[in-house]
Amino acid sequence: PVTNAQREDLMTQAVRPTRILYDCDPGHDDAIALVMAHRSPAVELVGVTTTCGNAEIEKTTSNALRILEFIGAGNVPVAQGCYRPLARPLRLGTADGPSGLEGSPYLPQATIRPVDQHAVDFLAAKLLAEPEPMTVVATGPLSNIGLLILKHRNVLPKIRQLIWMGGVFYRKSEIITPTEFNAFCDPEALRIVLDSGVKLLMVGLDVTMQVLVEEPQYAEFRKIDTELGKVVVDWLLFYEKLHRNSMGVGGALHDPLALALVIDPPLVRTRPAHIGVDLTGTFAFGATVADFWNERGEPPNAEIATEVDADRFFELLYSLLRD
Ligand code: BDR
Ligand code: CA
Repeated sequence: PVTNAQREDLMTQAVRPTRILYDCDPGHDDAIALVMAHRSPAVELVGVTTTCGNAEIEKTTSNALRILEFIGAGNVPVAQGCYRPLARPLRLGTADGPSGLEGSPYLPQATIRPVDQHAVDFLAAKLLAEPEPMTVVATGPLSNIGLLILKHRNVLPKIRQLIWMGGVFYRKSEIITPTEFNAFCDPEALRIVLDSGVKLLMVGLDVTMQVLVEEPQYAEFRKIDTELGKVVVDWLLFYEKLHRNSMGVGGALHDPLALALVIDPPLVRTRPAHIGVDLTGTFAFGATVADFWNERGEPPNAEIATEVDADRFFELLYSLLRD
């Protein structure tokens, strides 16, 4: 029989949130992921680090601070990271506009400041201070994580899992580009991560292009009659422009899906494979190539998300915005 003390222990474990470190380049979809991380009782946001990607590093850092303060998470430490990829010139995204967070009229400038430590050293310190290995979520180019592994190799056993939004594998649809932006921006960093032995879950375009915000989703978002709900709709209306104009579909919630997997891992099905990244290709530069049939003879270095329950994902997102 279970004693009262054991029962209490089990109950605390059941409700204990997953402590995470979140590396991002906000970015509208990174912004929504930040909102989810803060609002979910299943997640404890231990720290946020920023990288260049959707915009220059100063802008992604400022956006992270603005978002956190706006949602009441101003106590979460933010550390600024790499200002350019490890071995390539800076490439900026275009979907989020020049500031990286256009369409945010209600979002004031932040009064909080980043910590006085580079993201890579901040991540190492947080990981090493934690008694148990921690989950790291990354939704931008992997420059910070690659550099973390190069500089602080001893943190590797302290990473329980790295959930990364990036890559593309199946390309079964014409709305999926051959190369994914985060992989393309810093493929050398990705290569370092792939070779490091870290437990990696890749959440690529194959699944994130299945979580599209179309009319039924807008209708649900619009029912959330709060200041935050309105800001999210504003973000989505700006963010979808690129997709809508080029592919005729709504905005894909890439980064929120990666974050959602901390809360509800069975949202996706996964498959293990050895992943290579193309560092030299002309048309497929930065492409991620999965060796599902083990033709390269290498053991798997990642789990790849292959299928997603989109309705369940959206229900989770609405509930986090509503409550
Ligand atoms: C990824 O690229 C960025 O534009 C998004 O924030 C997301 O992380 C999708 O390819
Ligand atoms: Ca991103």
